[in-house]
Amino acid sequence: MYRISNGRAPALTAVGITFAALLVGVTAVRAWQAGPDSLAREVFQRNCSGCHGADGRGGERAPSLVSNRTTRGRDEMYFRNVIRTGTPGGMPSFAALPAEHIEALSTWLRAANATAADAHLFGDVAAGEQFFFGQGQCATCHMVRGRGQPNGPDLSEIGSTATVSEIQQALSDPAARANSISAPGCPGWAFCPDSGWNVVRVVLRDGSTVRGYARNRGERDLQLQTFDGQWHLLAQGDYTKVEREAGSAMPAFHGSDPERRDLLAFLASLDGARVGALAGAAQPSPKEIANVITPRAEDWPTYNGRVSGNRHSDLTQITVQTVSRLQLAWTYVLPFTGLQVTPIVVGGVMYVTGSNAVCALDARAGRQLWCYTRTVPAADAGGRGARGGGAGNQPPPAVGGGGIAGFAAFGTGNQRGVAVLGDRVFFTTPDAHLIALHRLTGGVLWDVAMVPAGVPGQYGGPGAPLVVGDLVVAGIAGGDSPLRGFLAAFRAQSGELAWRFWTVPARGEPAAATWKGSILETGGAATWLTGSFDAGTGLLYWTAGNPYPPTDGREREGDNLYSNSVLAIDPRTGQLKWHYQFSPHDLYDFDATEPVLLVDAPFRGQLRKLLLQANRNGFFYVLDRVTGELLLAKPFVKKLTWAKGIGPDGRPQLAPDTAPSAGGVLVCPQVRGATNWYSTAYDPTIRLFYVQAVEDCGYYRQGRGYFPYSNPADPPTKVLRAIDIETGNVAWEVPQVGIPEANYSGVLSTGGLIFHGENTGSFDAVDARTGRSLWGFNANQAWKASPMTYAVEGRQFVAIAASGGNILAFALPDR
Ligand code: HEC
Ligand code: HEC
Repeated sequence: MYRISNGRAPALTAVGITFAALLVGVTAVRAWQAGPDSLAREVFQRNCSGCHGADGRGGERAPSLVSNRTTRGRDEMYFRNVIRTGTPGGMPSFAALPAEHIEALSTWLRAANATAADAHLFGDVAAGEQFFFGQGQCATCHMVRGRGQPNGPDLSEIGSTATVSEIQQALSDPAARANSISAPGCPGWAFCPDSGWNVVRVVLRDGSTVRGYARNRGERDLQLQTFDGQWHLLAQGDYTKVEREAGSAMPAFHGSDPERRDLLAFLASLDGARVGALAGAAQPSPKEIANVITPRAEDWPTYNGRVSGNRHSDLTQITVQTVSRLQLAWTYVLPFTGLQVTPIVVGGVMYVTGSNAVCALDARAGRQLWCYTRTVPAADAGGRGARGGGAGNQPPPAVGGGGIAGFAAFGTGNQRGVAVLGDRVFFTTPDAHLIALHRLTGGVLWDVAMVPAGVPGQYGGPGAPLVVGDLVVAGIAGGDSPLRGFLAAFRAQSGELAWRFWTVPARGEPAAATWKGSILETGGAATWLTGSFDAGTGLLYWTAGNPYPPTDGREREGDNLYSNSVLAIDPRTGQLKWHYQFSPHDLYDFDATEPVLLVDAPFRGQLRKLLLQANRNGFFYVLDRVTGELLLAKPFVKKLTWAKGIGPDGRPQLAPDTAPSAGGVLVCPQVRGATNWYSTAYDPTIRLFYVQAVEDCGYYRQGRGYFPYSNPADPPTKVLRAIDIETGNVAWEVPQVGIPEANYSGVLSTGGLIFHGENTGSFDAVDARTGRSLWGFNANQAWKASPMTYAVEGRQFVAIAASGGNILAFALPDR
């Protein structure tokens, strides 16, 4: 959990006081040299030193409190709260200590953790910046706010994560800094053997040598970043020798005193990314763009692997014949529960997320390359420098609100993954920011707010963005509270807004006629789930969620466009080409945010460009994706009572007496739907569509939510179903044991197999032709994520995020 766990001796030596003259204000000087006063020292010795070490620099049982990146810049309140309440990670509560003892400890810890940004240094920040990017040549190795090179740690946050003395040490004696426990590198929760920036010379199997940064290293693997910006993710047998070079790649500073003063002032001012578009960045190349649309078979560069939305892979190693030998290859632990992420893999690097955090891993070994943890802006956190976010689309908890230090405060795994384009890795945050990171360092290139200033509503962004051309398209979450939904596209290089499509029209627009009543401005229709793209039609297909309020339609009479619809949008302009609304004037929370699969398949004797969706409302739909024409709509669940069918006009034929009432009316499917956002798949050779279906009913109350229906004679079930897309008939099904509600795993199709997480917590593979069970791994997980597959150096893996916080990767035995 904390850096000291690697057992290295702390090496934070006080650096000479020669630069004290550069500091302004007594507080800053005191903070810099902070030691405990006699009361704090005594109280600490008696109560804390047994775990945290005699001088607070860490012991066997607890982390350092003075050279620890997670305590940097925290205020007295934070320390007071941790001391009083303790933490779930093993810090006992000291609520019984006298108040003045807690005050003394908090004051000292606050001072000892004062950052360079706190110190108010003399010096010309602009001149320091000029030196950094110019004569000082710092930007040949470092990036700051999207400018510079990724040949060293990103320095955008150095002012708020390092003390003045640490920065001075880095300039004067880089080698010592490289070995100090608060050095950059692996600022994460996984085991990191050293700072992540030590230079090594590696002798490869063929006798040649490569030199670069050992970003991480294990007994049998080495993650090397060479100076040309390439990863060399080496496994046992790839190399014969590793030699660490002495010192640091960074040359010690040799400028004048005024240059040093200004440089220090500039570095101290760096307190994180600025929100807003980035000017002057290079556009993505046509080749980078093509790699997203037609990726290498080994890669999984977008949420569903392919922009078509079809979670089907053509890899051929894990098949009906070989799957019995499939075994766990590695696991990686993230400090989040309820992981919803689909891992993304490009060129042997895997990206995984939790809310406000992204980690890059060596996809073959599962070893961490870097982790980025967002420091949530004060306005969003309700407190300064909250590390990480809260649940769902709620704003993250303020630091000191009883949440603990470091990673436990992160919150949830409610984040579904990244999108990748060339060097850029994109993800969305719980407060609806879209952020681009650099693939080598995890440094922020740009950070933009997705919601225009002044627009009311609790917007979130747990969905994975989709790269289309040179745009990053991202939807927003929400809609279970009042807001106005939209889909937005941003330029990949800058974060600049390209277009925005509002899923709820403005008053006066033609579609506004489908909203009679008062709530139009906050009518919902969120765009939660990653959409699909077809280079053939040139259209982007994205779905919209339920209208708000979900079960009370009195202030929104009419169809409520474009809620519960699939939208076909021209991504070059953001213009709507056609739409199809699955559930007009919805009263059951039947959002349409289930995957849309774009397949070219024979349909009634004709090869057609189809769009497939199993909708939350219980019907399986086939549309012509060129025109939006409805070709087929048929129930894929038996428990469906709200409609008798879908008429020739494409509209549901409503059943009588099923509208939510004050007392509650029993309707099937229930509120979580006949299916939900979990992934679906279509195997083009077997020509079946696969979906996790839920047979369940519930009571809907007008404007007052839902309550479950419970009948022991007819319990709810989850059933894995294979559907013939030409008839809508079920070809085979696998009913699952156990409670369906806990399971949000979708399916993956590869090698004639369907992988899925099932209700009792196991990860299973069945024959895609018959549903026969072929393999299972008892992971005991309440799945919240869907599986994916990739290959590295000829070895295929199947991976899934487990709700307990692990990424699990499976493969056949290695050679
Ligand atoms: C029994 C061992 C133990 C004792 C005694 C103890 N701590 Fe801790 N402390 C821990 C552990 C373990 C953690 C890490 C907790 C976690 O990660 O959840 C911790 C964490 C902390 C943190 C948060 C660090 C961070 O990274 O944000 C602070 C502050 C802290 N302790 C202060 C104190 C003080 C002050 C005392 C004495 C009054 C004290 N501790 C006594 C074990 C101890
Ligand atoms: C040849 C590449 C290179 C150049 C040039 C370089 N650095 Fe570094 N710097 C690094 C590396 C690598 C590290 C990581 C520590 C290590 O392992 O040496 C680092 C570490 C740092 C750190 C500490 C980072 C932290 O998170 O603690 C600071 C501050 C820093 N450099 C500032 C500068 C400044 C200012 C300049 C220009 C005067 C500069 N660097 C020039 C490669 C470089």
